[in-house]
Amino acid sequence: MNNNRPSVLEGSLTLTDADGNRFTLERDRIALCRCGQSSNNPFCDGTHGKVDFDSQIVAR
Ligand code: FES
Repeated sequence: MNNNRPSVLEGSLTLTDADGNRFTLERDRIALCRCGQSSNNPFCDGTHGKVDFDSQIVAR
């Protein structure tokens, strides 16, 4: 995972919200927003680059 960017998922995906509703996915590669500022949540719309998003993820 790149820091300060969305989480990118690839493959045959099914994305379900907390209520059990499924998102229609037309691609096998999606980027999920991590900054919370996207206008297209849960998907990244590139806003992280404008809001100075800073998040360091370290695997342990
Ligand atoms: S991570 Fe890209 S808009 Fe939030």
